[in-house]
Amino acid sequence: MQRSVLIFAAVLPVLPALAASPAAQTAAASPDAGAGRNLFAQHCVVCHVKTLVTAVRTYGPPLSGESLGGQAALLRAQISDGSANMPGFKYSLEPPQIDAIVAYLKTLPAPAPAPPTGPAPR
Ligand code: HEC
Repeated sequence: MQRSVLIFAAVLPVLPALAASPAAQTAAASPDAGAGRNLFAQHCVVCHVKTLVTAVRTYGPPLSGESLGGQAALLRAQISDGSANMPGFKYSLEPPQIDAIVAYLKTLPAPAPAPPTGPAPR
């Protein structure tokens, strides 16, 4: 009994800090790249990021601030409506959450061009 009171007293001061952390907020009024990063991890990584060293490729193309010409309107439309091989998220994500994902994508640098393959020229 006494021990559980002690543990509670030790955890209590941490709670306000947790509530204030960006991870605890879902997308706020202004697009928040931090919240977008979390949403991206939950909804997009499975298709757009190579998570296994042994994976030959990802299902979707690599994404960056340069995707779709870096145009926020096109990125929002792609995420909302999806395309032939990608589900749309307009029924599962709120518009501010989609804006947060777009803000996060804008922070990603374009991938380096793939190194040339095949035999070296003589
Ligand atoms: C089921 C797998 C899947 C998921 C989940 C997924 N995507 Fe996609 N995405 C694709 C595929 C595949 C394409 C290529 C277009 C096509 O074939 O329909 C694509 C294309 C895109 C493009 C256009 C890229 C380009 O250069 O043309 C963007 C931007 C994008 N996805 C963002 C996202 C975001 C953000 C999420 C998470 C909210 C997400 N996708 C979730 C499979 C997925």
